[in-house]
Amino acid sequence: MVSNQWSVLITDHWPLLRKEVKHLKKAVLITGGCGFIGSNFIRHMRKTHPELHLINLDKLSYSGNPENLKALKDDPYYRFVHGDITDEHLVWSLLQENRIQALVHFAAESHVDRSISGPKVFVQTNIVGTHVLLDRAMQYWTDTLSREPSFRFVHISTDEIYGTLGKNGSFSEESPFRPNSPYAATKAAADLLVRAYFETYGLPTLIVRPSNNYGPYQFPEKFIPLMITNLIEAKCVPIYGQGLNIRDWIFVTDTCRAVDRIMDRGKPGEVYNVGGETEKLNIDVARYLLAFFGKDEFFLSFVADRPGHDLRYALNNSKIQAQLDWKPTVAFPEGIQLTVAWYQANEWWWRPLKEKLTKESKGFWSVS
Ligand SMILES: NC(=O)c1ccc[n+]([C@@H]2O[C@H](COP(=O)([O-])OP(=O)(O)OC[C@H]3O[C@@H](n4cnc5c(N)ncnc54)[C@H](O)[C@@H]3O)[C@@H](O)[C@H]2O)c1
Repeated sequence: MVSNQWSVLITDHWPLLRKEVKHLKKAVLITGGCGFIGSNFIRHMRKTHPELHLINLDKLSYSGNPENLKALKDDPYYRFVHGDITDEHLVWSLLQENRIQALVHFAAESHVDRSISGPKVFVQTNIVGTHVLLDRAMQYWTDTLSREPSFRFVHISTDEIYGTLGKNGSFSEESPFRPNSPYAATKAAADLLVRAYFETYGLPTLIVRPSNNYGPYQFPEKFIPLMITNLIEAKCVPIYGQGLNIRDWIFVTDTCRAVDRIMDRGKPGEVYNVGGETEKLNIDVARYLLAFFGKDEFFLSFVADRPGHDLRYALNNSKIQAQLDWKPTVAFPEGIQLTVAWYQANEWWWRPLKEKLTKESKGFWSVS
């Protein structure tokens, strides 16, 4: 981490430093890159943009794991910075010391259940942290406009800001915000702050609203990895209520391709839904996995429903398809097969995380 004193020193010598920086490789600053989607995105970027320096700022909260990127440990153009997005001096020094072309903001507290039992940290990271990034990015963009005109601030929001749907219809980018959980409310606030920085100051922001992701490296408290790892351990899979909630599932590499496309070709000030076009009842996802593992319905365990549980999410993808020529490519059966194979081959990754969860929690994920 960079001390405040050092940051002040950098600020004083900013024009001089910028001259040196000009000779550096172009860089992308990614926040939350040790989490599920962020680490998949960094791997995607390494493959598709070998010319870029990738800088990953992550606090390593309970869901952040540097092991997710251990393959890049000796890559000279990948750098991990252990720090908090609310640390404005650190954020500023990372922007100043590098030729940042884009800031891609994944870092968040991301689990709805945790937001119900302890919303405070969600406000701090998701709202205050996003504001710190916007504020510092604004200063950086103003200072470097002549030399880095293509700078972009890409914010990863969520479909949960729209609230819940009834049986029919889908959310477009124009749908009103009706967040129902503390998680969704803090993500909605962040989304609106990002919009305000474009509307008020002209900061070139882009907002991405993905639906429910699944795939390798997802923390095992989330629905699909929880079910897969429980079934590998021959344990029951917990289902909230009757399992009648509907989610729109997207395989994580499709989200990574969408974020890359939006960063490259999206229009500043715009919002893009990124849906999987795969709506499924939770109970059907559970049954699909039971069948995959050759288990019967005895392995379903119905638990008390989550308070304020949104019934249905579905995203309308027409904007991103028409304007950026993107659509999801991984069908659910293929995505599930890849995900199950990954969890089967990587028990070293999830077993210690799950043991810790089971010890710490009062039991949702310890259903046996
Ligand atoms: N997973 C999904 O289905 C989904 C769907 C839509 C949107 N999103 C959004 O995508 C983003 C990534 O989600 P995810 O599932 O990968 O989450 P995750 O919980 O797996 O990862 C979050 C990462 O952010 C880091 N982090 C948390 N607080 C931080 C802070 N104060 N400073 C720096 N780093 C911090 C964590 O250490 C972790 O590495 C989030 O913004 C989330 O709201 C996720």
